[in-house]
Amino acid sequence: MSAQIIDGQAIAMEIRLALKQEVEALKQKGIFPGLAVIMVGDNPASQLYVKMKEKAAQEIGLHSVVRLKPTGTTQEELMREIEEMNEDPRIHGYMVQLPLAEPLREREILEAIRPVKDVDCFHPYNVGRLLIGETGFKPCTPLGCITLLERTGVPIEGKKAVVVGRSNIVGKPMAILLMHRNATVAICHSKTRDLAAELRQADIVVAAVGIPRFITGEMLKPGAVVIDVGINRLPDGKVVGDVDFVSASQVAGWITPVPRGVGPMTITMLLKNTVEAAKNQCKI
Ligand code: GUN
Repeated sequence: MSAQIIDGQAIAMEIRLALKQEVEALKQKGIFPGLAVIMVGDNPASQLYVKMKEKAAQEIGLHSVVRLKPTGTTQEELMREIEEMNEDPRIHGYMVQLPLAEPLREREILEAIRPVKDVDCFHPYNVGRLLIGETGFKPCTPLGCITLLERTGVPIEGKKAVVVGRSNIVGKPMAILLMHRNATVAICHSKTRDLAAELRQADIVVAAVGIPRFITGEMLKPGAVVIDVGINRLPDGKVVGDVDFVSASQVAGWITPVPRGVGPMTITMLLKNTVEAAKNQCKI
């Protein structure tokens, strides 16, 4: 069997077009949605992500601000930046690019972000609301994965889903979103005894471990929907996912490629959350 490809790039562009139209309509009403990204230091991967976010924001017509802070920026300086963003009425949503290098205290920074502007959904208040199924922001990567799953037309309800990886950014919130859609969810991680045995029962697999080509075709249940969150750069420069695409696509029913899978959806969900934030703050 050969899996159908879930074209994250195409789906992302379709959603961005709809968002662009929504932004234009909001501008007609005098609302100019604004997104800011704060980055500290010169991590090359983070620089690339921030550039991509800025470009995407501009393309849909958002007021886009990027604050690049040098390596050595202190906790106090960064907290002042956060305060400015919290008070700036032109900024409806903003995010601090992670990881933050030591000695910056990431938790304290994330907790200083005003929850209504927390378009990443990293503030514990928003994480708590997510857990108990209240309305509010959903974190960008898991929301992008759910959107891709929904686009396949394969129902989530009643399915066995296995999330591989337990990070705060992807694994944990992903499991919550799947559970709220009535999937039966297992979270697997480095201490899981027999990952292949878990995966072989899974109708839905979300791979977010950060190990190149970790999940292979023989671990999968035939026909499974496979969402690959991994972005791993190999020594030869090639970018691959956490799933071995060649073998997995022989077994899966649906699969996301890397690149052009989950990546463009993460940015798209950030834009979507920003438009949502602007509407909430302007009571639309
Ligand atoms: N670093 C890697 N992914 C993310 C993300 O989704 N948000 C932020 N703020 N930093 C990241």
